[in-house]
Amino acid sequence: MTAIEIREPGGPDVLTPARRALPTPGDGDALIRVAAAGVNRPDCLQRQGLYPPPPGASDVPGLEVAGTVVATGADAEGVEVGDRVCALVTGGGYAEYCVAPAVQCLPIPAGLSPIEAAALPETFFTVWSNVFDRGGLQAGESLLVHGGASGIGTTAIQLARAFGARVFATCGDDAKRAFCEKLGAERAINYREENFADVIPELAGGVDVILDIVGAKYLAANIKLLNPDGRLVIIAVLGGAKAELNLARVMMNRLCVTGSTLRARDPGFKGAIARALRERVWPRLEDGSLRPIIQATFPLADAARAHALLDANRSMGKLVLRVEGGP
Ligand SMILES: NC(=O)c1ccc[n+]([C@@H]2O[C@H](COP(=O)([O-])OP(=O)(O)OC[C@H]3O[C@@H](n4cnc5c(N)ncnc54)[C@H](OP(=O)(O)O)[C@@H]3O)[C@@H](O)[C@H]2O)c1
Repeated sequence: MTAIEIREPGGPDVLTPARRALPTPGDGDALIRVAAAGVNRPDCLQRQGLYPPPPGASDVPGLEVAGTVVATGADAEGVEVGDRVCALVTGGGYAEYCVAPAVQCLPIPAGLSPIEAAALPETFFTVWSNVFDRGGLQAGESLLVHGGASGIGTTAIQLARAFGARVFATCGDDAKRAFCEKLGAERAINYREENFADVIPELAGGVDVILDIVGAKYLAANIKLLNPDGRLVIIAVLGGAKAELNLARVMMNRLCVTGSTLRARDPGFKGAIARALRERVWPRLEDGSLRPIIQATFPLADAARAHALLDANRSMGKLVLRVEGGP
């Protein structure tokens, strides 16, 4: 099969089409003929040598795919050859065939194309797990999403709105600001022009949950903005990993500072998220009230162009690779 290899750590042009043997499904796995693969920021970090695949994962980048099941390993429950699925994978998505644990496969929602479905797993699993499970966001509460126009951000805005929360977002330019507000953010803040630490108190006093990708640079402001019993959930540290934390404020306001990474978690954990998504979120994708936000698609061989767009912070929503000749 054709797969995209990372020739060596570096810029987008190290992504190179190569011939690889087909992966073999192990116990509990499905082999998927890939029609489309989502592109995510962690793929760029892996390409730069900053985010090595966890033990046992493919060295081929790509954390999500959609396509058709063409073979199954022993004990692969819930999927059959011929099923049209999308799946969260630990790697190997930028390829014509990809192996996924069966429990991490979900049906392609009715009415969505494989390209649209390939944009779902990574951000929907991540946001569900961090905003709703870990962050405990409830209807009537408020959420601040940093990086509101990112793949993660556009999913978080939509999901939080769909489940009855007020949503605020930050982002880096006015086009992204308008985009976040169109998606359902009550107010998005262009951090180059306004300070969210000043704007949020005027709009809402404070917020109950913050989904953060910036880390150290925003820690003090985030802690100040949280309502009593508020939760700060950190899923990336684009603005640094080490900062001073006001523990008195954490104590007095009963705050929770937490975070997680999804990729290294086991299939049992990811399977539980898949079941929750299928029950609570898939019906909303099928009735059109939620949708994947795709900015552009590229042929698999042009993965480097997609990475260049992400590296430049120029994307809004998701980028997806089309696999020629796929189902
Ligand atoms: N922990 C997990 O399990 C997990 C899972 C998936 C993704 N993630 C992380 O979540 C983040 C979003 O992923 P994605 O694929 O949705 O990303 P994306 O679509 O590539 O968007 C990332 C956005 O982050 C903003 N950004 C970049 N550098 C920044 C900086 N130094 N400070 C503030 N903002 C910055 C940029 O938007 P602006 O122009 O608006 O600043 C950029 O467009 C990534 O950092 C990724 O690694 C974590």
